[in-house]
Amino acid sequence: MDRYKVAVITGGGSGLGQAVALRLAEEGVAISVVDVSEAAGQETVRLVEEKGSKAIFIKADVSKAEEVKYYVDKTVEEFGTIDMFYNNAGISGPGVNFVDNTIEQIDLVLGINLHGALYGLKYVLEVMLANGGGRIVNTSSTAGVVGQATVGTYSATKHAMVGITKTLAAEYAAQGVVVNAIAPGTTETPMVREYKEKNPEAFVNATEPIPQKRLGQPEEVAELVAFLLTGKAPYINGVVVPIDGGFTAI
Ligand SMILES: NC(=O)c1ccc[n+]([C@@H]2O[C@H](COP(=O)([O-])OP(=O)(O)OC[C@H]3O[C@@H](n4cnc5c(N)ncnc54)[C@H](O)[C@@H]3O)[C@@H](O)[C@H]2O)c1
Repeated sequence: MDRYKVAVITGGGSGLGQAVALRLAEEGVAISVVDVSEAAGQETVRLVEEKGSKAIFIKADVSKAEEVKYYVDKTVEEFGTIDMFYNNAGISGPGVNFVDNTIEQIDLVLGINLHGALYGLKYVLEVMLANGGGRIVNTSSTAGVVGQATVGTYSATKHAMVGITKTLAAEYAAQGVVVNAIAPGTTETPMVREYKEKNPEAFVNATEPIPQKRLGQPEEVAELVAFLLTGKAPYINGVVVPIDGGFTAI
C-alpha cells in the first residue's frame, strides 16, 4: 500500500486553514496543523481525527524563523516527509489609511504575512527538493491583485505572494515542485468577523461590488486548495486563482 500523503497547514487552527485541513482529511492526508494558538490548533486536530485521518498540532509563530524551522523538522520527524504545503497563516492589520499606521502595526503584518510565508517556503522547499517534489499553495487575496483602501500593508504582503509564487514555479518546476496561489475575496472566517466588528463602516454594502452579491465560504476555498494540492492537474503551475464571486473580473 502507498504511504499516506502529508500536508503542512499554517494557521490551521481557524478559518481557511481549518477548512482546508478538514477537506484534505477526506482524502486521507495526514495533517501537520501549525498555529500560534494551541486551543485552536488542537481543535482542528480533533476534527481531522474525527474524519478518520492523522493529525498533529505544532505550536509555532510563523514570524520567527527558528519556529518555522521547528514546525518543518517536527513534521518530518513525525510523518517522514512533506508532500503539500498550505502557506496560509496571516493577519489583516488595523483597517486604516496607510499613513495612520504605526511602524509597529506595519512590522507586525509584514512579520507574519510576508516573513512568515517566505520562511515557510524556504524550509518546506528544502524538504520537498530533497524528496523529489511536492505541491504548494500560497494564500494571496483579492488585495494581492487589486488596490483596496485601508489595507495597505496587508495588500503589499499579498502582492508579494503573487511574486514569490511565480518565481518559485519558474525555479523548481524541473524538480517536481508545483506552486500556485489563491486570491480569495472576503470569506466568512473568524478573521473577517473580527475585522467587521472593529470596522463596521467598511462592511456597509460589502457585497454590493461583488457580482454574486454574497461573501465567500471557507468550504469553497478549501475545495479549490484541495484541487490544487491533490487534484489531477499538476500542469497548473505558477498562477494565482481568484475565488471572489467575480469581484476582480470587473
Ligand atoms: N477570510 C478572508 O476573507 C480572506 C480573504 C483573502 C485572504 N485571506 C487570507 O487567508 C489566510 C487565513 O485567513 P482566515 O480568514 O482563515 O483567518 P483566521 O484569523 O480565521 O485564521 C488565521 C489563523 O492563523 C493563526 N495565526 C495568526 N498569526 C499567526 C502566527 N504568527 N503564527 C502562526 N499562526 C498564526 C491564527 O491563530 C488563526 O488560527 C490569511 O493569510 C488571510 O490573509 C483571508
